[in-house]
Amino acid sequence: MSDKTARWIFYVGTLVSLVLFVGLTVDTHRQVATLTHADRLDEQVVAGKRVWHRYNCNDCHTILGFGSYYAPDLTHVHWRRGGDGIKAVVRTPEKYTTWRHMPHLAVSEQELDDLVAFLAWTAEIDTNQWPPQDEKFRSGAGRAVSLGVSAGANLFREKGCFACHTLEGTGGSAGPDLTDVGSRLNEETIRSILADPQAVDPEATMPRPPLTERERDELASFLATRSS
Ligand code: HEC
Ligand code: HEC
Repeated sequence: MSDKTARWIFYVGTLVSLVLFVGLTVDTHRQVATLTHADRLDEQVVAGKRVWHRYNCNDCHTILGFGSYYAPDLTHVHWRRGGDGIKAVVRTPEKYTTWRHMPHLAVSEQELDDLVAFLAWTAEIDTNQWPPQDEKFRSGAGRAVSLGVSAGANLFREKGCFACHTLEGTGGSAGPDLTDVGSRLNEETIRSILADPQAVDPEATMPRPPLTERERDELASFLATRSS
């Protein structure tokens, strides 16, 4: 190839890439309001974003890739943990974090409510299903792929059970994997564990989950059917 041809390939290639880059950037910016549901940006969401900055959560975490890479990305953490689960982590991080420690931050209850509103909003930002591992936590019609859509599956997510338990390959490992729990324990036993783990096993370390009787029933009937 002559120098001249090589130069032309370089110029044309650079130009085409530049046009594509600018075009796609403009196209994305045109869609930002829709993709982020800008209409749902109410005062509490904005207050929550201020809390996020006040406590420098992004010194360790990222949202949409912005922040530090020490701790997990929190864009869709509301799907993974639910509102109560997020609050539980921030109130007592020592119970939920592994060798990577999250510090105890004196976040007030009002600030926690605002933070959850903010993280519920970020979770709904349309990121073209990125990161893909978060999709399976998503609730709502037809979305919770591997867990099915049921009151129990939603409660499992919302009440922070994923923090310590794994279902279908996803979740924490502080407690046993519950993918097959239905083949080990019957519904009645699961209900008793949820009512008071220490009453079933005095050595149990699982904290008593804050559930109403109805929520216990729904979770127990959901878990009793988990077997492979
Ligand atoms: C000094 C670093 C640091 C700061 C600051 C910090 N975190 Fe964390 N956070 C962590 C680490 C590390 C983990 C994960 C530990 C593990 O499981 O290995 C974590 C985990 C979490 C989780 C659970 C993540 C998941 O994937 O389920 C939530 C929710 C969370 N943090 C929220 C917050 C919020 C909200 C703030 C600000 C108020 C904050 N963090 C500030 C280090 C930090
Ligand atoms: C802080 C961690 C933690 C959280 C949060 C948690 N668990 Fe547990 N869970 C455990 C541990 C640890 C065990 C093992 C027994 C023990 O030490 O208590 C356990 C045991 C269980 C068992 C019995 C499993 C077996 O195979 O024996 C069930 C069922 C269960 N948990 C359901 C739940 C549900 C449903 C939730 C959410 C409402 C939940 N857990 C929240 C830590 C947790």
